[in-house]
Amino acid sequence: MTKFVLASHNKKKLAELQSILADLGVEIALQSDLGLDLEPEETGTTFAENSLIKAKAVMEASGLPAIADDSGLCVDALNGAPGVYSARYGGPGLTDTEKNTLLLRAMNGQSPRSCHFACAITCCFPNGDVLTAEGRCNGTVAFAPMGTDGFGYDPIFFLPGLKKTFAQLSPQEKNALSHRGNALRAFAAKLEDYLK
Ligand code: IMP
Repeated sequence: MTKFVLASHNKKKLAELQSILADLGVEIALQSDLGLDLEPEETGTTFAENSLIKAKAVMEASGLPAIADDSGLCVDALNGAPGVYSARYGGPGLTDTEKNTLLLRAMNGQSPRSCHFACAITCCFPNGDVLTAEGRCNGTVAFAPMGTDGFGYDPIFFLPGLKKTFAQLSPQEKNALSHRGNALRAFAAKLEDYLK
């Protein structure tokens, strides 16, 4: 069985990845489970660059193939902001609720309200090989937060087709159409080919 490490401390991300890669016979550990405490600075200007920075650092520190993801919300009327700065929007230390309030305020009177979530996944192998995949989910910025599930910008990410925000969907419903779900499915297909 091929062993991988996920460049993250997030158990939910690990579970999501494990369920999508279950059929490939790969074993995945969290970097924290391997005692790796590194937190490389995300200095990239794209999601793909940041996921590469994280995957490469963890691959070099562990000697194992390392998978990293990077994601965020891009709002058209704000020229793609918060984008790669989604986690740091408004400065360090703001809660998700505070970030959502700030974004709704920035969108006051703005049009259009179209936006998308983007996710990039990179896997770095010790032999120098690199696999990448991307996923996207289109929506609009809601006029007010709705729903209690999920995290981050979920309560203000509105899906016009479903008339619901991400925070009003079950985890399964969200995974089926989310940027991360789409990126993970694309990644699983590429990894399956690579391992053949
Ligand atoms: P990271 O790639 O896990 O570091 O996520 C970056 C930031 O983007 C998070 O802190 C969230 O604010 C936001 N984000 C990424 N994916 C989602 C999502 O599925 N729902 C809501 N917010 C998200």
